Amino acid sequence: MTELFVDPADPRPLTQQLYEQLRSAVVEGRLAPGARLTPTRRAAAELGVSRSTVAEAYARLVAEGYVEGRRGGGSVVAAVATTPPQTARDATALVPAARTRGLRPYEPEPAPGVAWDLRPGVVDDDLFRASAWRRCLARAAAETTGHYTDPAGTPELRAALAHWVTRSRGVVAVPDQVVVTAGAGHATDLVARTLLDPPAVVAVEEPGYPPVVELLRHHGHHVVGVPVDDQGIVVDAIPRDVRLVYVTPSHQYPLGMVMSRPRRAELLAWASRARAAIVEDDYDSEFRHTARPLEPLQRLDRDGRVIYVGTFSKSLSPGLRLGFAVVPRGLASAVASVRQTVDWSPPLASQAALTAFVTEGHLDRHLRRCRTVYRERQHLVRTQLERLLPPGCAVLPAHAGLHLAVTTPHHDAVQRLRSSSPSLRAGSLARTYLFSDPVPGLLVGFGGVPTAAVPTAVGALTAALA
Ligand SMILES: Cc1ncc(COP(=O)(O)O)c(C=O)c1O
Repeated sequence: MTELFVDPADPRPLTQQLYEQLRSAVVEGRLAPGARLTPTRRAAAELGVSRSTVAEAYARLVAEGYVEGRRGGGSVVAAVATTPPQTARDATALVPAARTRGLRPYEPEPAPGVAWDLRPGVVDDDLFRASAWRRCLARAAAETTGHYTDPAGTPELRAALAHWVTRSRGVVAVPDQVVVTAGAGHATDLVARTLLDPPAVVAVEEPGYPPVVELLRHHGHHVVGVPVDDQGIVVDAIPRDVRLVYVTPSHQYPLGMVMSRPRRAELLAWASRARAAIVEDDYDSEFRHTARPLEPLQRLDRDGRVIYVGTFSKSLSPGLRLGFAVVPRGLASAVASVRQTVDWSPPLASQAALTAFVTEGHLDRHLRRCRTVYRERQHLVRTQLERLLPPGCAVLPAHAGLHLAVTTPHHDAVQRLRSSSPSLRAGSLARTYLFSDPVPGLLVGFGGVPTAAVPTAVGALTAALA
């Protein structure tokens, strides 16, 4: 039932006020046909008016055909033609602040009709659906309590994640160090808010992950892009006054190389000298296809300068918005307090579901299945690309992850793809260069294309570039 108001100072009689409000609610479609009007006795009590005032307003609405009386009492809204409200409520004199105006959605949803979504960041829906997630979530829904909960996450989930990330990635973590977040981006946001007073100088890899650049700029920081070579970020090129550096050591985004062991040591030594923080974004290392893993920076860190960030966006689904940070123990409560100021805590049902998913072994099983599928698919995509790409294009080496980077001689590779194959999408390599001349090319994700469809999808993609 729509909210009704009466104003004793209004010169219109109370009955008239009620009648007009209800009539416009019916005519504007806010009260749907069949909706029951509040019984006169209750409406009168809620509004502090006499019952006959309400009854009179209802009677007039019935007489004019907006409402129908029901046998046995009660009044329901009649099926009348509706017209949208006259006033444009969406108009506003408010404008976004200067630092917000430049923000644009990073990856718009695929347009209807896109058959092959080869953008990076898309995962295989069928694999996710086949996992035990739905069952875990259904059980978890029953466990939700009526309380605000720990901003860092439930003790059970923090323990489960600490154990899992120690075992699977060699991260050094006890439950107190884990802060559950809404993904890697959110973890980076919390860490930057906790550690930096804007404007600070922060460094990212170039090319890199644009949403993090947008995020740090939006915080008011001065973001510098530091080049990468085949061993990862070029440490000598990090400016002296940088307070925080964001890196993707196990699978550089977007180019795909692994940060070498010497480079890891060099970066840690730099951070100690510069008294800076390192955010280690380990966004898709679960999918390692060839080389042996290297120890995470967080494990090599002797100084408590590394914040390790993990996400379930690739290993489960980006729609879940679940990730975590492993922070030095002395920082954990500050990060949790920052989180509390924003949205208090992660949703309890998601946390309980993830706890069950991890502790009951579903995550390990799901990852084993995904690894087999994605490894085969990566191999197929690579061999197809290498066979079919026109001269001048090259597939960059990558040992992990769910996409391959392809350099092309054309600066308009993405547009070519759109115009020659509207049902195909891929990511833009050029778009990941924000500080220097972009290298033209594509990011070819293979999470969203079934293995059997890879030859068709890659065939269409390479034909568009020919
Ligand atoms: C470098 C990098 N980090 C993190 C993510 C995932 O971010 P989130 O966990 O916020 O979904 C992605 C997704 O594509 C990525 O490319």
